[in-house]
Order: sequence, then structure tokens, then C-alpha cells
Amino acid sequence: MVSVAIMGHGVVGSGVAEILLTHKQKLFSSLGEEIYIKKVLDLREFPDSPIADRFTKDFEEIINDLEIRVVVEVMGGLNPAYDFVKRCLKAGKSVVTSNKELVAAHGAELLAIAKEENVNFMFEASVGGGIPIIRPMNQCLVANNVREVAGILNGTTNFILTKMIEDGMPFDDALKLAQDLGFAERNPAADIEGHDACRKICILASLAYGKHVYPDSVHTEGITHITLNDVKFAKEFGYVIKLIGRVKKLEDGKIDILTAPMLVPFKSQLSNIDYEFNGIMVRGDCTGDVVFYGKGAGKLPTASAVVADVVDCCKHLKARRFLFWADGDGSNIISYKDSVSAMYLRLSGTDAEAKAAKVFGDTVAVRSNNEVAVLTTEMTYSAFEEKCGALKECGIEVLSAIRIGDM
Ligand code: HSE
Repeated sequence: MVSVAIMGHGVVGSGVAEILLTHKQKLFSSLGEEIYIKKVLDLREFPDSPIADRFTKDFEEIINDLEIRVVVEVMGGLNPAYDFVKRCLKAGKSVVTSNKELVAAHGAELLAIAKEENVNFMFEASVGGGIPIIRPMNQCLVANNVREVAGILNGTTNFILTKMIEDGMPFDDALKLAQDLGFAERNPAADIEGHDACRKICILASLAYGKHVYPDSVHTEGITHITLNDVKFAKEFGYVIKLIGRVKKLEDGKIDILTAPMLVPFKSQLSNIDYEFNGIMVRGDCTGDVVFYGKGAGKLPTASAVVADVVDCCKHLKARRFLFWADGDGSNIISYKDSVSAMYLRLSGTDAEAKAAKVFGDTVAVRSNNEVAVLTTEMTYSAFEEKCGALKECGIEVLSAIRIGDM
């Protein structure tokens, strides 16, 4: 029997406990031993839980219990999760987390501690919820030089955009629905302003390129400025709008990484990923494109990935699973101003089509009432900003500007 503790009994934590209890036999056949939940840490009371007697409010009861070999951290946020996880690893316990904020902020340090202490630090659930992505990238695709990773990494924003596109639902109603369904972060600003997706692409970039990428070195835009008009124009051009986290390796070895809404062509596999589903495309030099698809948020999908890591840790109590990247200083990342992309613009003003063509050269334009939507050819973001300045000088207002994805 392997004793484990779960820190946090919220949406994901209660899902982890549920799976460990309801799938006991299934997990026993995989591991050859029982996984026993010895403690659950939460400040709230859960008198109706079948394991109500194992709840504690005191972290010391977990850290000091030598029988607990694996600790699940599903509290979310950095404090006290960071301190608790660090102490668990230093005490020789393997740790499994779904906490992308923690991994994106402190992954390199926690991986180094795990290595030093000869224990495991695993975080499959931190990206893509129930979709296997960390383990496939770390193991199955290890022979590849990863050229690019691009993904729809946030279920809440994908749910909102899908509702806007398919039902014309206003943004706020769609957000409320996503929150009611348990997809959203405690503070939904992290979803709609792109920070959650940014953390996830940082984790994938760190894994793909071996150096920690910190979220504050990644340009991040959310979806709050996307309007139903953008959605309609995008459709006319043959695109859907998706929030994309994307990292590309450039010829000089540097990486181009950002999180932003993008126009995704109908022909792209990512264009059909709707509602709370996530999709991640990994472009390997040997495999070509490999696409991972599934539920990126929600109680049981996310808990499923956590439990898989728990089983892996239990199977490797005395061995390390090789999962590692070094710390990074951002010197391998180009500025988003140098990143190259074609752009979509929504404009208003007299002769917007002609003026856009004069400033941007080759463009495609569509008009609807007083607004004109334009697609440009590729250019760096700094060149794009300069041209937008020139448009404004001609009396044209730029109502919105969105990158065109080439995935
Ligand atoms: N708020 C996140 C999302 C939860 O909507 O994708 C899963 O990480």
C-alpha cells in the first residue's frame, strides 16, 4: 500500500479523491498495490465526504508523516502552494501538481530540488487538463527537434469564443456559464486576459527547449477586446478566432513565443476545437504535426491526469522519472516586436480600403456598413505598429488588430 496526501479539496482535489476511491480496483491492477488517501488538507469542513475523518487543516501533519510518500498539490495559486511543495520535495516526498501558475513560476527550481532529493515532481494536469501532453512530449516525441508548439490551452476562453461564434452569445453571459461549469480560474481575469494560457505555453516551451521560460518574458493578450464583428469578419475570410499559445524555434536557435487571439484558418485542425476542449499541435522535425485533443478543464478530466501522475510516482518511489529543464534568463527569447505575422485589421474612416492598401501594400478587404476588415501580408510587429500609425495619420481608426495564425 502507498499512502498519499491531497492538499486542496476544491474542484480538482475532490475529483482526485473521487477517482482514487471509485477507481481503486482499476488502479490496483495497474500498480499492484493500493493507493491509500491518508490525509486531505483543506481549511473547510467536508462532513459528508466518505473520508471525512482524514481531513486536516494542518500541513505539518502531512510533512511529518513518514508513511506519506506522494503528495498531490491541487490548491492552486502560489501561496502557500510553493512553500508546501518545496518542503514536501525536500522531505523526500514526490509531488504531483495541476498548478500551472506554480510550475510556470518555479518549475526549474522545483525540478532541481526533486533531482537533488531523488524524488519526482510531476505536472501532467498543468497543461491541457485531461489531455496527455507533458509525458508524450517528454517521452514519445523525445527524438524530435520541436519546431513549434501551438495550442488552444484555455477551456474558459475557448468556451466563450465558441458561444460568441456559434450562438452570438454576449461575452459576459458566456463567461458566467463557463464559471458555473467549473472551468474558470478562481479569478477569471487569468483566463480572459490570457495569463492562464501563457503559463501553459511557458511550461511547454520550457519542456520543448530545455530552459525555463518565465511568463513575464512572454507577450500576452487576452480576448476581452474581441467583438462579434471580428468574429463575423473572420468567418467571411475563412477563419475562426481562437486564443493561441504558440512557441516557434527560429533559425538562429532563439524562440518566438506569445499568447494572443489569432485568426485560425478553417483548414487548420485547431479551428475545430470548440467549447472547453483544448488542442495542442506539436510540430516535430521527424513526426511532422502531432495534434492532441481533449477536455482541457473540468473536475474529472483534470483529476484523471493528476491520478496518472500519482500512479507513476507510486511506481517509481525509488527511481526518478527523467523530467527536467534548466533555469532560463530570457536571453533565448526574441521580442514580440520582432515576431513576424500577417495581420487582420478592423477599420473605420473614409476610403479605409484604399488607404489600407496604400499603407500596407498587398491587402484583401471586406466592408460591412461603416467598417472595413483587412488582411495584410506578413511583417514584424514593429513594422505593423508603424503602419498603423501611418493609417491613423490618414484619418483611419484601427478598431481592432489580430494576428493571423499559420498553423
Ligand atoms: N481555467 C482553466 C481553463 C482551467 O479554463 O482552461 C484549466 O487549466
